[in-house]
Order: sequence, then structure tokens, then C-alpha cells
Amino acid sequence: MQKLAIQGGVRLNGEVRISGAKNAALPIMCASLLSADDLHLSNLPDMHDVETMAQLLRQMGVQVTAVVQGATFNAARVDKLEAPYDMVKTMRAAILVLGPLLARFGEARVSLPGGCAIGSRPVDLHIRGLQAMGAEIHIEHGYIHATAKRLRGARICFDVVSVTGTENLMMAATLADGVTTLENAAREPEVVDLANCLIAMGANISGAGSDTISIRGVASLHGANHRVMPDRIESGTFLVAAAATGGCITLSETRADILDAVLDKLREAGARIVVADNHITLDMHRRPTAVNLRTAPYPAFPTDMQAQFMALNTIAEGSAMVVETIFENRFMHVQELRRLGAQIAIEGNTAIVKGCPLLEGATIMATDLRASACLVIAGLVAQGETIVDRIYHLDRGYEHIEAKLSALGAQIRRIK
Ligand code: EPZ
Repeated sequence: MQKLAIQGGVRLNGEVRISGAKNAALPIMCASLLSADDLHLSNLPDMHDVETMAQLLRQMGVQVTAVVQGATFNAARVDKLEAPYDMVKTMRAAILVLGPLLARFGEARVSLPGGCAIGSRPVDLHIRGLQAMGAEIHIEHGYIHATAKRLRGARICFDVVSVTGTENLMMAATLADGVTTLENAAREPEVVDLANCLIAMGANISGAGSDTISIRGVASLHGANHRVMPDRIESGTFLVAAAATGGCITLSETRADILDAVLDKLREAGARIVVADNHITLDMHRRPTAVNLRTAPYPAFPTDMQAQFMALNTIAEGSAMVVETIFENRFMHVQELRRLGAQIAIEGNTAIVKGCPLLEGATIMATDLRASACLVIAGLVAQGETIVDRIYHLDRGYEHIEAKLSALGAQIRRIK
């Protein structure tokens, strides 16, 4: 197990380049299955989940040719319509091959993703949507086995907003016969980035970014070039780290227009924020003020930023209420923060955080991707040394995070 050793008490200063968005790259890589032509992707982040997805596509027969900061995908000779358990269990986003395989090849066998640390995370909305489009689906031996001569357009209303549910059905609908309308669709920017890539491939999509997306099926899709959007959660993570350490940093190659809820909360905590083109500068000149949070689907405050802000609140002035409405078990970082001296009480999906002037370094354990980012932030502010264990969680979704933090002045090193 690899660990990170962090010496706390350093104010982060300097500039950091934001990488391509993991949660845009993963569905867009699956979109390559919808065409027999080359899909050229740039700004692909170098992280474990992207490598896992590339391996999954390769074992299906997709040619994946890496280029600098990107890759070319060609699905002309896909000969295996399956996503095996050993790959799905480590990365739930593998479910995103289901819609494209069904749409282009009429068949798919995808392992049911198990639960994960943050919740049971069912895929019933993905399955019910594909059935509404005419797919025959059987669940046997832990696998989703789906067949469809040709999917047909349907009107589908999500009873819960689902990001990958919206993405899977949007991809499936691009080659269906007729028009598909997705109601109560996810509005996340990553859904829009996927839609933009699909449109570049010849898909007929309108309404992406709103809660109603309409897709008129076409006979086939062609190749395209697409640059993956910047990662808004990586952006938010670095901004919170700078705010927590009382630093001053500038993010480059990012986007502020998709971070309103996060930037508003950072301003409420006392940060000075300046936005210019694709740069965001944050200057934290005093101890943060505690901020109340309630997670909800985009454009509201993102659940993927809840843990990071919890770290900020542990050392802020005052108390704050953190309500997690998306996942049923996304407070795994709380007991680890308590080991550093944080004062946090949990009542169901609500955590009450009482800010302390100081945290003390200790050995703590990462449990999931964003919880591990939270623990790194806590280590950056805690007195003395903090060891964060099981950082493979971190490596799944952040590109070279310790190198980027070191460049901002953090005293952080990886222990093999
Ligand atoms: C996506 O997960 C993201 N992952 C998650 O980011 C993110 O936290 C989540 O959306 C919410 O924003 C990717 O995009 C790869 P959902 P997803 O379907 O699509 C329930 C990270 O850290 N639900 O939007 O799996 C579900 O249980 C990861 O980068 C059903 O009930 O999440 C949850 O309560 C973590 N049935 C809610 O909907 C379904 O069929 C939202 O889940 C699907 C979902």
C-alpha cells in the first residue's frame, strides 16, 4: 500500500495547471464504441481510472493509441461485447459501455457494479431506460445481459437525477430508431461535454445541460476530434487546499463558469477570488469562516466537493452543518478527520462541524476518492506529520497530485 507523508503548516502559493476532467473523459472514451472511425481525444488526464477504461476498451477490441496528453480510439474491430467483473468492480464507470455496445452491436454483457464505499449505487435507472428503448435485459450470475435488434426512441423520465444514467441513455439514443427524450436529466457540465463530442461525431442532440435532453437517432456516427473539458472537481480541490492553508494560488486551463456554487462558498468562507479567462486566483488572507453546505445535483453544490469543504470547516471559525443528499454513506472521512482532532458529530446525512484552531498530524486512511483528497487537505493544515494510507484511491481520480502540490510549496512525499 502506498502512502503520502505530509508536513503541515505550509501556505500554498503559486500556479497549477488543471487537468482534463475524469468524469468527462470516462463517458467520452466509451463513446468511441459508437463509431468505426477514429475518435481523437486531447487533454485526457493521466490517472488510474482513465488507464482502467482504456484497458477495458482494449480487451473489447478497441484500438487505443496513446499520444501526448491524449489518445486515439478506433472501434472498427470490436470482437468482445463484455465488461468483466474484475474490471467493473474497481471502476463503476465501466457501466458506461452498456449503452454504446447495445446501440451499435445490439448486445452487451456488463457486470453489475458492486456497491462502493459511498453507497449502494444501483444502476436500475440505466436498465429501466434501456428496456424502455426496447432492450431485452436479464440479470444473471451478477451480469447484465442486454440484447436489442435496434433500440427505438422513447420518452424516459428519471425519478432520481443520475449523471451516468443520463450519459448511458444519451449514448444509446444516438443510434436508436426515432427520438428519445430524457426528462429530469442530469445537467452536469460533463454531460454537456459528452453531448458536444457526440454531436461532433454526427449525433443529433439538443438540450444537454438542461433537465430535458432530446436525441434523434441517426444511422451511424463518424470519427471526431474532441478536447476534454477541464476538471471542475480538481479545480475546487486545489482552491479549498489553498483556502485551508491560508495561501494564494492561481489555477490555469480551468473554467470558472461551471464552479459558481463552489466559488460562492469559498467567498462566503472569506476567500478573495479573481476570475480571468481560463484562470482563477484565490487569496486567503485570514482564518476561514465555517460554511454550511447542502449537496445536490448541478448547478447546486456538488457532492464531489463535500469532503474537501469538510476539511476546511474543521479548522474554520465557528460551526457548520454539512448535509449530504446524494449518497447514503459519504461521511467515511469523518472518523479519519477526528483522528486529527476534528470536532464532528453526525446525525444521519447531516454532519455538524465545530471549527478548531488547530489539527494535529496522525496516521489516517483513505476510503474513497474524494475522502482521500479531504485527508490530504487536512494533512496540509495539521501540525506536524500526517501519513495518509491507501492513496490508490487518490491516484484513481487526480493527476500527479503530490507533484502539483509540491510545486505549490507543500511538503509532501510518497512512501512506497
Ligand atoms: C457520477 O456518479 C460521478 N461519477 C460521481 O463522481 C458523482 O459523485 C455522481 O455522479 C454525482 O454527481 C462519474 O461521473 C464517473 P448518479 P454516478 O447516478 O453517475 C442514485 C467521483 O468522485 N441512482 O448521479 O454513479 C445513486 O444511488 C465520483 O468522481 C439510482 O438510484 O452517480 C445516487 O444516490 C464519485 N439508480 C444518485 O442516484 C441508478 O440507476 C446519484 O447517482 C443510478 C443512480
